[in-house]
Amino acid sequence: MVSNMTAVLQDMDRQHHMHPFSDTKALNEKGVRIITKAEGCHMWTSEGERVMDGMAGLWCVNIGYGRKELAEVAYKQMQELPYYNTFFQTSTQPATELSAKLAEVTPEGLNHVFYANSGSEANDTIAKMVRWYWNTKGKKSKKTIISRVNAYHGVTMAAASLCGLFGMHPQFDLPLPGFTHADCPHWYRFGGDMDPEEFGIQAARSVETMILQLGAENVGAFIGEPIMGAGGVLVPPASYWPEVQRICREHDVLVIADEVICGFGRTGTWFGSEQLGIDPDFMTMAKGLSSGYQPISGVMIHDRIADTLIDIGGELQHGFTYSGHPVASAVALENINILQREGIVETVGAETGPYFQARLRELVDHPLVGEVRGLGMMAAVEIVEDKAIRKSFDGSKEAGRIVRDLAWDRGLLVRATGDSLVMSPPLVMTKADIDELMTALSGALEAAEPVLRG
Ligand SMILES: Cc1ncc(COP(=O)(O)O)c(C=O)c1O
Repeated sequence: MVSNMTAVLQDMDRQHHMHPFSDTKALNEKGVRIITKAEGCHMWTSEGERVMDGMAGLWCVNIGYGRKELAEVAYKQMQELPYYNTFFQTSTQPATELSAKLAEVTPEGLNHVFYANSGSEANDTIAKMVRWYWNTKGKKSKKTIISRVNAYHGVTMAAASLCGLFGMHPQFDLPLPGFTHADCPHWYRFGGDMDPEEFGIQAARSVETMILQLGAENVGAFIGEPIMGAGGVLVPPASYWPEVQRICREHDVLVIADEVICGFGRTGTWFGSEQLGIDPDFMTMAKGLSSGYQPISGVMIHDRIADTLIDIGGELQHGFTYSGHPVASAVALENINILQREGIVETVGAETGPYFQARLRELVDHPLVGEVRGLGMMAAVEIVEDKAIRKSFDGSKEAGRIVRDLAWDRGLLVRATGDSLVMSPPLVMTKADIDELMTALSGALEAAEPVLRG
């Protein structure tokens, strides 16, 4: 039995709210959980449960919950100038200062930013900019964008077409023409007996095979998350990205790094591109850009692309009412200032990230754990039935969901992507917080063993 307040809210929600990525009919039967407040790495439900947020919301609350500095900046900006656009020869102080700050913290050469409100919109913007760029170059057939199996890039028509989670396509007759998917570089699932680095090269070469099949004159760009997030935190072998980068340059194919999850410290550097050997022409940013305190996203554009587009002149026929929204920009700017001031990225890189990964790897000897993978503060633990042959449980067993629910009972929220338990906690987690997470997670695995094998 839930409290009266919870029951009233659940009923209202049932009657009026259609949830993203949810089966509304099934959800209505269960009733939603109402989250009422959060502080640091923890959140509370309307039933008074205290839960560690192992997902930082949706991979986004990098600096943790309850940061008053961001609330104060938003309050001040709303009083001074709650809204103004950036269309008509106008800008605002926060949007301008944020642009300079982003040029400072992103890898060299990425010096221009275009703002949107979500990762999906930013990727849609890039899909259009790829066309714009090649059109200005007179190479009008270079339109196809190659993505990858298991990739996640968002939900707008173009972004969803980029996704390689193919369950997302049939409801909407996607993908659109001009979007295609190369191999997924996940060694544990697709590498078989191959050496991981050799497999990395092979997976990269699937991009080249696709370019050659389509004809390089028809391929505009390749897009990839440095580490695939929603697909299950799939870390490619070290050989993969440098080879992809080499192939793309050789065939004059632009490189898009979707840093929506990896960006702003999650991997232990400011951007995953720095660690994985990517030199992107476009970079997608969202989530950690404002730590989720305001909806804002951006596209960083490398000088070698931006200079061409700017020099050619002519009005860009694209923009959002809220591109560079002053309140969202002010909050994002203060969020980046906090990341810098408190050395959060450096701490993840040198201390808490390695500690989190090392503690999780203690689970590899557990009979249910096939693979532990991750970097910095993103990780996944894959549940299997038979470790020796990497055999998953039958889908009807819902192994991932079972362990996820047992973790919740122990005060920890993790996500189940198939049978992988996915984690992406706030970057401000201390070693003590990580220990708390580990106690709940290993407890859930112990409790799951008799349920799954029974
Ligand atoms: C890598 C990546 N790109 C794009 C998106 C889409 O972002 P949004 O949900 O803000 O549209 C996501 C969301 O999880 C993501 O993980």
